[in-house]
Amino acid sequence: MSERLFNFSAGPATLPLSVIEQVKSDLPVFGDTGASVLEISHRSAAFANVLEEAEDAIRTLLAVPDGYKVLFLQGGASTQFAMVAMNFLANTGKTADYIKVGTWAAKAIKEAKRAGHVHVAFDGEPGAYTHMPRQDELQLTPGAAYVHTTSNETIQGIQFASEPDTGDVPLICDSSSDFMCRPTDVSKYGMIYAGAQKNMGPAGVTIVVMSDELIARVPADQYSMMSYAVQAAKGSTFNTPPAFSIYVVGLVAKWLRDSVGGLEAIRALNERKSQLLYDTIDGSGGFYKGHAARDSRSLMNVTWTMANAELEAQLIKEASDEGLMSLKGHRSVGGLRASIYNAMPLEGVQALAEYMKEFQRTHG
Ligand SMILES: Cc1ncc(COP(=O)(O)O)c(C=O)c1O
Repeated sequence: MSERLFNFSAGPATLPLSVIEQVKSDLPVFGDTGASVLEISHRSAAFANVLEEAEDAIRTLLAVPDGYKVLFLQGGASTQFAMVAMNFLANTGKTADYIKVGTWAAKAIKEAKRAGHVHVAFDGEPGAYTHMPRQDELQLTPGAAYVHTTSNETIQGIQFASEPDTGDVPLICDSSSDFMCRPTDVSKYGMIYAGAQKNMGPAGVTIVVMSDELIARVPADQYSMMSYAVQAAKGSTFNTPPAFSIYVVGLVAKWLRDSVGGLEAIRALNERKSQLLYDTIDGSGGFYKGHAARDSRSLMNVTWTMANAELEAQLIKEASDEGLMSLKGHRSVGGLRASIYNAMPLEGVQALAEYMKEFQRTHG
């Protein structure tokens, strides 16, 4: 296979072609360094510049207010599940509220329980994780250490329309699968984190946007690698950072800022793309059945089922033969999932919507 297909993988996921081409042209020699970005020291001026440009682009796109750090950490978003609780729950004697909206939120809860007392402020599991809670469905603990939420559940395909109101309690958000898919008011959050490999770049780096106020709460005796305070003080270079991944994140962020035109522009495109698929599902007379409640539908991961598993498998296989790859839903939900992150072009979604209609005509 020598051509690029439309890749609907949930992550690692499709990247902008211009970024892939830039990476290619930066190999084997990056700028005037005499080596590729894979080979230069993380203490070099060239890499300091890579780090600074990546951070600048993210700050500009999200309009990150003063008093927030942008960090590039390792261990994936899953390490954040533990790190958040180690830094802000363990030994505080407080309760942390968790909004359990899907598989990833449940994993975050499992880790947090090792560190301290967790209160599930909303449990979507009995409802098969089909909707995001309204504010009046949240049972928040006054004086909680923090509230943890997941803005987009990648597996179920549900997304918060806007962030919950947690008053004075810091809101911590796993935004791995919808980071920078639309404008976000960072000032409403204590912390936003995202594994890069869906919307922002390759696996290996996790972007963390965190308030200085929260960093001030990190215990002084925290393990260095697990301490947000140490990572912030060292500018994400306490140890050797995932330099190549950070470099690609910088390219993706610059693409979003300079080529796409920022987060309002990408929101409009993401709404258009997802609407095409939801319209196809809704217009199918029940041939395709959406998993998510309408008010919770994700801009990023569109999930649906069909009458039986054979038909689903047939669509996945035949679509793949047509150049529409990785449409299989997660095994826990079944059915199909089209992950249409920022870098999925409109043409890819149009091709999928047309294909779904054609499949219904021939198999319906
Ligand atoms: C919402 C969400 N959170 C966390 C994770 C875990 O990310 P990682 O594999 O980087 O640990 C994922 C991965 O798919 C995810 O979708």
